[in-house]
Amino acid sequence: MLFTEVIRKKRDGQTLTKKEIQFFVDGLTNPDVPAEQISAFAMAVFLNSMTFTETGFLTSAMANSGQMLDWGELNLPGPVIDKHSTGGVGDKVSMLLAPIAAACGCYVPMISGQGLGHTGGTLDKMSAIPSYQTFPDLSLFKKVVKQVGCAIIGQTSDLAPADRRFYAIRDVTSTVESIPLITASILSKKIAAGNEALIMDVKWGNGAFMQTLSNARDLATSIMGTAAKAGVNTRVVITDMNEVLGSTAGNALEIRESIDYLANNTRETRLDEVVVALLSEMLLATGISDDLHNAHNKIEQAITSGEAYEKFSQMLVALGVAADFMEQPDKYLPKANIIVPVLAEQNGWLSKMDTRAMGNVIVELGGGRKQTNQQLDLSVGFSEVMPLGSELQTGQTIALIHAKSPEDAERATQSVQNACLIAGEKPVLHATVVERLTS
Ligand code: URA
Repeated sequence: MLFTEVIRKKRDGQTLTKKEIQFFVDGLTNPDVPAEQISAFAMAVFLNSMTFTETGFLTSAMANSGQMLDWGELNLPGPVIDKHSTGGVGDKVSMLLAPIAAACGCYVPMISGQGLGHTGGTLDKMSAIPSYQTFPDLSLFKKVVKQVGCAIIGQTSDLAPADRRFYAIRDVTSTVESIPLITASILSKKIAAGNEALIMDVKWGNGAFMQTLSNARDLATSIMGTAAKAGVNTRVVITDMNEVLGSTAGNALEIRESIDYLANNTRETRLDEVVVALLSEMLLATGISDDLHNAHNKIEQAITSGEAYEKFSQMLVALGVAADFMEQPDKYLPKANIIVPVLAEQNGWLSKMDTRAMGNVIVELGGGRKQTNQQLDLSVGFSEVMPLGSELQTGQTIALIHAKSPEDAERATQSVQNACLIAGEKPVLHATVVERLTS
């Protein structure tokens, strides 16, 4: 079989066979197949899509491209479950959800990814914590999941390696926003990680890969259908991504906000809504709770008792972080040289945010990748981001920019001004949690 013929067939809008898809996936793990050919295939799928059956073949071939984890041998006394987001700006939900779920009795082996396009990645955020082992060996990963209840790590070279290479190539070739490719990318990792159940946060809006609700529903259907075929009990929550989630965006800054949340100091309303909605679905899917009321009580108890904070702290220490990190995060987290406010230029309501542009500002500041192997500046980003619907006076702060240099800060200020619309009328806001779908 020739790689060029498989690309050509997809380029011409034809349906690929299982064999052809397997051949492509074998190419993903073969360094002799050049990135150009993989990019061309990605673009052909982006433009012509794939059938549901093709997506299933792609998912299972990518899941089987490396090791498949089995948690059965550990005899864990609770369910093994994970959550995944389709990606957004300021989305620090994973860092909150994993320890809260662990405090509620779940076991969460969370395999996270790098930032993709304008969106941030949990793996990059965790890398902002000095000495945190993002790639522990498998035995340590399992040990931490068993002892603590959660571990957030990167996709090791053994786990769905086909996705690892494909993900990196899609990131820099504008081929991310494809329903079959997102479905296969997410599910291949989750299937390989041996999850019994999965909760998906499918984001919609101008900061998401799915810009419309209808596209988000299509992605949700694709993920639920493909997961069901693979035997993974999956629930989807569709959530809003038409503004930064929480009050920060940027790797170290989001870790800081997460610590404040887990310490029950500051729980930004929209962030809290998303965390609670996803966790509730987790507790319902696993049978830990029978109804929403009970799920909400358990979640609240896990946070306010300090148990979730403790779980996060234990996970960090077990994976190499200093014991006093949670008490003194500012001593450890990287800090930007320059912090400048972006000021409102008129009175009015913050009515619209171009969230994708906000994500791209972070990429421009060095907090996201323009090239596959780029070293990130983990300190940069935004803090104190005002939510949509805020009433602002001229001169009031919309957000603080954290940058490496005054020039970067100046450019970012201009971009944030352009991305944030202040209007004379109070805006109608989108619901934060839009829909819950159960297969
Ligand atoms: N998250 C993933 O893991 N893969 C995608 O393609 C998009 C979001």
